[in-house]
Amino acid sequence: MFAFGVDYYPEHWPETRWPQDARLMAEAGFNVVRLAEFAWSRLEPKEGHFNFGWLDRAIDLLSGHSMKIVLGTPTASPPPWVMSSTPEFFLMREDGRRATYGHRREYCPNHPGYHGHTRRIVQKMAEHYAGHPAVLGWQIDNEFGDRCFCPRCIEAFQGWLKERYNSLDALNECWGTIFWSHEYTAWEQISAPLSSGGQPNPGLALDYYRFCSDSYVAYQQIQADILRRLCPGQFITHNFMGFKYDQLNLYDLAAGLDFVSWDNYPRTQWTMDRSVDPARDALEHDTMRGLKQRPFWVMEQQAGPAGWDIVSPAPRPGQLRLWAYQAVAHGADGIVFFRWRTARTGSEQYWHGLLDQHGRPGRRYDEIRQMGAEIVSVGERLLGTEVAAQVAMLHSFDSRFAFQSQANNPGFRYETHFAEVYRALHALHVPVDVVPPTADLSEYKLVVAPALHVVDEEIAANLRAYVSSGGVLAVTPRSGVKDSVNRVVDMPLPGLLAGVCGVEVEEYDSLPLGDRNAVRFVAAGLPRAESPATEAWADVLRPEGAEVVATYLHDYYAGRPAITLNKYGEGRALYLGAFGKQDLLLPLTRWLLEMAQVPLPFAPAEDVEVVERRRGEQSLLFVLNHSSGGQEVEVAGDFRDLLTGCDVHGVVNLGPYGVAILENAKGEEP
Ligand code: GAL
Repeated sequence: MFAFGVDYYPEHWPETRWPQDARLMAEAGFNVVRLAEFAWSRLEPKEGHFNFGWLDRAIDLLSGHSMKIVLGTPTASPPPWVMSSTPEFFLMREDGRRATYGHRREYCPNHPGYHGHTRRIVQKMAEHYAGHPAVLGWQIDNEFGDRCFCPRCIEAFQGWLKERYNSLDALNECWGTIFWSHEYTAWEQISAPLSSGGQPNPGLALDYYRFCSDSYVAYQQIQADILRRLCPGQFITHNFMGFKYDQLNLYDLAAGLDFVSWDNYPRTQWTMDRSVDPARDALEHDTMRGLKQRPFWVMEQQAGPAGWDIVSPAPRPGQLRLWAYQAVAHGADGIVFFRWRTARTGSEQYWHGLLDQHGRPGRRYDEIRQMGAEIVSVGERLLGTEVAAQVAMLHSFDSRFAFQSQANNPGFRYETHFAEVYRALHALHVPVDVVPPTADLSEYKLVVAPALHVVDEEIAANLRAYVSSGGVLAVTPRSGVKDSVNRVVDMPLPGLLAGVCGVEVEEYDSLPLGDRNAVRFVAAGLPRAESPATEAWADVLRPEGAEVVATYLHDYYAGRPAITLNKYGEGRALYLGAFGKQDLLLPLTRWLLEMAQVPLPFAPAEDVEVVERRRGEQSLLFVLNHSSGGQEVEVAGDFRDLLTGCDVHGVVNLGPYGVAILENAKGEEP
C-alpha cells in the first residue's frame, strides 16, 4: 500500500466532531492516520492508571473508513506529573542549566527513572494494540534531538569512555591530554565539554557528540525492544528532521528501525522567503533515503503556512501537492500530512494543518484531495520503483560533529558546503545517493566526498578500493585532516587520502570573511576563459603524481595548483583545494560526470526538476515545475502521464507548480 495520510489529534477536539473528520479524511483519499504521539496525559492521566478508551474509539472510527493507523509512543512530551516527580529528569543544557517544564523534549535520555516511565507507557500501549488489525506500526518518540550535559550523563559518559578506550593511558594518548597538563588519573575526573569551559579538547568534544548520539540510540532501543517483543508484524519507525539536523548520528539511529520517516517543511517561519529552493529540499530527501538506502516515508508533510510566532507565506495553489510529489520522486513510499486541523490552543496555533482552526475544508484540503484521488490510481505503480543513482555523496556525522567545535573558517559550514556541492548535481538532474563513507561504493560511477574531515583506515581503504577498481572520486578541502579520535594526522594533508589523490597540501590559507581568490582551469575540457571565485579556504597543492586541473589566480600562491586529478589503479581522484560556488562547481561537476560516464538526463527549463524512479526496465520520470508560471518541457521520447492518463510525445505542459509522472512505454502493470 502506498501510504497517504494525515497526522490527527482527536484528543484536541470534541468527540462529536470526530465522525465528520473521519469522513472528510476518507474523502481526501487518506489510508493512514498517525495518532497519539503527544497524548501521554490522556493515555495515563495518573501513574499506572491507563485510559485507552478514547483512542480505541478514534481508531474504530477511522478504521471504519478503511484507514490504517500509525501510533506514536508519547515519550517526547511527558505530562507534568512525570516531570515534576524528579528534578533530575530534566535535561541539562550546554550552559549547565536544566530545562524547565512547558515545552517538549526536555527529558534526559539517560535517566533510569525516566526510562521506567517510558517502559511502562510503551509496554501498556504495545500490549493494548498488539495484533490490532488497524495498527500498521509505530513511530517511536518524536524527532529525537538535543544533548544533555547533566551529572548523570557525565557519569554515563565516563563509563562509555571506559568501554571505548579500556585504559586511561589509551584515552590520554588519543586525546593528547598532555596538552595543558590535562592527563587524567581517574575516570571520574572527566567532564562534559560545557560551553562555559572555552575551547574543549577536540577528542573530548567529538566523543561527547558520539556519546550523546549513542544515548538516544540506546533510549530508542529500549522502546524498540518492547515493541518488537510484543508487536511482531507491526513496523517501527521514527520521524527524523532531515539533513539539516546535526546533533545525532542519524545512521546509527536508523539502524534499529524498519524504515526511516522524516518531517518535511519546505517553507517555515525560519525560511520566510518565498523563493523556490528545490535543491535544498531534494538534498533532505536524498539524505533520508540514504540512511537505510531504501524508500522512506514523510511522516509530517507541510500542510499549510507554518510557524509558531511568525506565520510563513501561504503555500501557493499547487505547492503543497508539488512538495509532496517531490518527496515521492526522491523515494518516499508514504506521505502523511501534518496536521489535519490547525490547533486553536498551544504553541502551534499558527502551524497550519489542512483545515484552518475553524475546521471547514478549503483550498488546501481540496488540493490534497485531488492528490489523494491520484494516489488511489497511481500508488501501486510507484511501489517497488526506486531512485537509481550512479553518483554518491559521502556524508559523515563524525566530520559534522568535529566541525561543530572547530569550524576552521568563519565562512565555512559543512552543511552549506555539502549543499552547494549537491546543488551542482541537482542542477544537472543527476540522481544522488547520500551515504556514509563506509558504504559499499562499488555500484557508483562518481563519488564525491565534501569536507570528509574525519577519516580512519577503514574509510580510506574503502575509497582506495573504489578508485583502484575504476571509480571516479572527488575530494574537497579539509578532508583527511583528522583521525578517528579527532587528532590532526601525522602526515601531509589530505592525510590518509593523499596517496589516492596523488597530491599533498603544501600549506593552507584560511581566508578572512569576504576575501576571495579565484582559479583558472588548465585541464582540457574545462572552460579556460572563466575564472571561478573561491572563498574561505585555499589549499596550496603539491602534486605527487597528479596532474594540475586548475591554478590560483591571486595572492602569493598565484599560479600554484588549486585542483588536481590523479590516476589511481583503474580510476581517478580529483582533489579540489578551495571552496566555491556554482561558477566553480558546475563546470567541474559536468566534467567529472563526463569522465565517469554518467549520462546526463535531458536538461529542462530552470525551476523544473526531473527525477527518475525505476524498477528494472520500468521508468517513472517525475517532472516537477517549481515555478509560478506554466512550463512547456521538452522530454525525449514517448510516455504516458500517469496523473492525466494522456500520452506525451516530446513535450509535456505543466501549469504553475504542476507535476507530471511520465511512464516509459516499457512500464508493465505491477
Ligand atoms: C515537527 C514536529 C511536530 C510539529 C511540527 C511543527 O518538527 O514533529 O510535532 O511540532 O514540527 O512545528
